[in-house]
Amino acid sequence: MTSDMIVPPDTVSLFDYERHFMTRADPAVRAYVAGAGADGITQRSNRDSLDRIRLMPRALRDLSGASARSELLGEALDYPIIVAPTAYHRLVHPDGEKATATAASLTRTWMTVSTQASVTLEETAGVARHPLWFQLYMQPRRDDTLSLVRRAEAAGYKALVLTIDAPVNGLRNAEQRAGFRLPAGVSAVNLAGMEPAGFLPARPGSPVFQGMLRDAPTWSSVAWLCSSTRLPVLVKGILNPDDVAPAVKAGARGIIVSNHGGRTLDTLPASIDALPAVAGKAAGRVPVLMDGGIRRGTDILKALALGASAVMVGQPVLHALAVGGVAGVAHMLTILQTELEVAMALTGRARLTDIDRSVIWTS
Ligand code: LAC
Repeated sequence: MTSDMIVPPDTVSLFDYERHFMTRADPAVRAYVAGAGADGITQRSNRDSLDRIRLMPRALRDLSGASARSELLGEALDYPIIVAPTAYHRLVHPDGEKATATAASLTRTWMTVSTQASVTLEETAGVARHPLWFQLYMQPRRDDTLSLVRRAEAAGYKALVLTIDAPVNGLRNAEQRAGFRLPAGVSAVNLAGMEPAGFLPARPGSPVFQGMLRDAPTWSSVAWLCSSTRLPVLVKGILNPDDVAPAVKAGARGIIVSNHGGRTLDTLPASIDALPAVAGKAAGRVPVLMDGGIRRGTDILKALALGASAVMVGQPVLHALAVGGVAGVAHMLTILQTELEVAMALTGRARLTDIDRSVIWTS
């Protein structure tokens, strides 16, 4: 796939990148990237729920000086679009996360680099010219977690994104059927030498509860993390409004509403459906972001209307990286930026702060 990095001329939307990715990618990589849990019900509902929402147009408003700029965690954000953490970019491009970070910088987009990146976090920071966040999985040994945190701080990452919705992996049947294995040369290089989570020799007890979840974090681990770093910590993977208070109490500076792209527990709700209640609980305390099925500028407008300060995009980054390399990802992000501006213009919203529930068609 990487020998031909010419973006096909009919690639005008994120769905086109997905279509080209699906027809070109190795079937096992395709199954891993798509990665739906079990029957894919949650993954499909991420899209279905966004598609069901209708927008209320607003005619001929004065849009002079309009912009999609805002501020998040004290930093200027050009567009409310952030690259979500996704693992192993070298599965689809030889330069992996370095290529993605280059494209993100070219489009002035913030990027979240995964703990399970296939390029070291320092190398990726070395090519980035725009803010990076580091996504963290708590490691079985606290020293290993701290070592990742210190490395991210030293490399200039601006925030930590703690993923809390996958202390045990989802059961991804499509990936299992396709027999996905990491190919030689692609690995979670940032975790080299660290104790892997949850692999124990056979012993009495459940392989899930006494095995994979043996070292699972709790809210007190989140509080420990927040007090162990000077970086703001955002907690990613909240759908239940009751999880907002413990997150804020533990010191989280932001909440990311997410069902992990439908990759963890199947039949969880769509992110967009969970967003309003979580945003209601977080209101005025910490900003709320959302990911899960964002493919259009109109999707971003809907998420902002329902309480998000910004959205994250995950899978489309891998589709575009596979199909078009650096140019593909930069093009894909530009498409989203432009689509958001068009959606703002046609709903008469000159600023992100003008986007509220009245942009949603309710009758
Ligand atoms: C996944 C893990 C890496 O979703 O978070 O594949």
